[in-house]
Amino acid sequence: MITNKETFEILGKNNREAEAGGGEARIEAQHQAGKLTARERIDLLLDPNTFVEIDRFVTHRCNDFGMDKKKISGDGVVTGYGKIEGRTVFVFSQDFTVFGGSLGEAFAKKVCKIMDLAMKTGAPVIGLNDSGGARIQEGIQSLAGYADIFQRNVMASGVIPQISAIMGPCAGGAVYSPALTDFILMVENTAHMFITGPEVIKTVTHEAVTKEELGGAMAHNTKSGVSLLRAASDEAALMKIRELLQFLPANNAEDPPLFPAKDDPNREDESLDRLIPDEPNKPYDIKTIIQSAVDDGYFFEVGPDYAKNMVIGFARFNGRTVGIVANQPMVLAGCLDIKASLKGARFVRFCDAFNIPIVTLVDVPGFLPGTDQEFGGIIMHGAKLLYAFCEATVPKVTVITRKGYGGAYDVMSSKHIRGDINFAYPFAEIAVMGADGAVNIVFRNELKKAKDPVAERARLVEEYRRTFATPYKAAELGYVDEIIEPRATRVKIIQALEMLKDKVDSNPKKKHGNIPL
Ligand code: HXC
Repeated sequence: MITNKETFEILGKNNREAEAGGGEARIEAQHQAGKLTARERIDLLLDPNTFVEIDRFVTHRCNDFGMDKKKISGDGVVTGYGKIEGRTVFVFSQDFTVFGGSLGEAFAKKVCKIMDLAMKTGAPVIGLNDSGGARIQEGIQSLAGYADIFQRNVMASGVIPQISAIMGPCAGGAVYSPALTDFILMVENTAHMFITGPEVIKTVTHEAVTKEELGGAMAHNTKSGVSLLRAASDEAALMKIRELLQFLPANNAEDPPLFPAKDDPNREDESLDRLIPDEPNKPYDIKTIIQSAVDDGYFFEVGPDYAKNMVIGFARFNGRTVGIVANQPMVLAGCLDIKASLKGARFVRFCDAFNIPIVTLVDVPGFLPGTDQEFGGIIMHGAKLLYAFCEATVPKVTVITRKGYGGAYDVMSSKHIRGDINFAYPFAEIAVMGADGAVNIVFRNELKKAKDPVAERARLVEEYRRTFATPYKAAELGYVDEIIEPRATRVKIIQALEMLKDKVDSNPKKKHGNIPL
């Protein structure tokens, strides 16, 4: 008869085996590669001693290729739940020391189990990815496992926040689970994401490219926009996820957590009155306004390396999370282009899905001209940003800091697309187009006939500027609710957000809209 004491010993031995993952040598190799193990990552991600593991004794059921003799408890992924700053999150952490973190049927079932629990309980899912992809020995079953996860990613989209950290290889179809989540954060040098790797590319297109150039953190954060967050190490990545979570609600039925601010809600910043140059074409840094206005100057920027003409990120006003969307006059004069539109649109939709008010800072001369843009589909992509702002029902507060021209004015959370409170600085220029362009078109004939066309042009430009390039026409029509001094930006935004805190608005009932994808 087996005694109870012996069962405890067996449990202890089994636990130790499961915790050892692929064994000491592989753990050492993982560390040598500059990576932490799956369990070390979870320990750093979660509040101390809060992790509860699920399914630690699950193994695969594959008997092909000698796999029946290779069973490792946990099957290459550590799953469970724990807390971040006291709030429950679910986590799966792929264990590269076990079959290269490759995904088979049992592995996928473990991931699905915690995703289902996360959906039922309304808590975020964080995936730590470090895997050789589909487990080759399991063939089609591993593809089925991926698809089971993809389906859950999509069902969970907009219901619970889903965050993916890429901390090692993530290739082939395996990239699509992270791609379906809300944020992808990549670790520099160790993370790689691609559909087809350098070898395949070389064979098919004869292009020579390294793994890092093709799918490293910099490639995706600067070129593709697949990832909008990066960190220098595993530790830094995990801290960044903890930080990001602080801005988010646990699910779409909750509001984001409140962080009572020490920063005075009535604080004005006189220096903002002098920030924006008199010359309309001189740039200034929109982040100066953001940092001045938000609580404690704390701005969690998303995508700082991608489409820099559009600045997005999270901050707080008087303790409340907001999403900030802002044109950046320092880059491409703040024009909207394809990348900026995509970056902004996805962020606006995330905020709207998770009850995060949107504060939009507008300084936009228009859409970026060019054949690249037109052939690349700026019409469709710009429409995504427009669609996202139109569809959003969260509180929307807009400040036109300088230019609001043409279609881009409409797009950037204007009054006409349900902007709740729209402010403008006294020198804002809100018009169909800039003075130079307008004069060229409207007064073409007069200019041809003028004795001194240069002087006449200058006079007309000045006249147009004084008449139309102001916020007063828009204010007369109620398109701008209030003209404010820059120094009061924080105070005014806080007043508006406070007034809007119980805002209720909705869209017509439908299966789903047809955003121009
Ligand atoms: C089974 C795998 C594996 C996989 C790695 N391993 N990937 N086992 N299936 N997909 C195993 C290795 O055999 C090895 O086992 C151990 O993991 C560590 O791998 P190494 O190659 O020694 O590590 P490293 O040199 O760091 O290279 C890592 C790697 C490489 C770049 C990920 O292993 C690799 O290229 N793997 C294959 C990637 C791949 O083609 N995957 C399928 C993609 S298709 P031992 O016992 O020898 O130490 C895909 C489709 C998904 O994923 C579709 C979803 C719809």
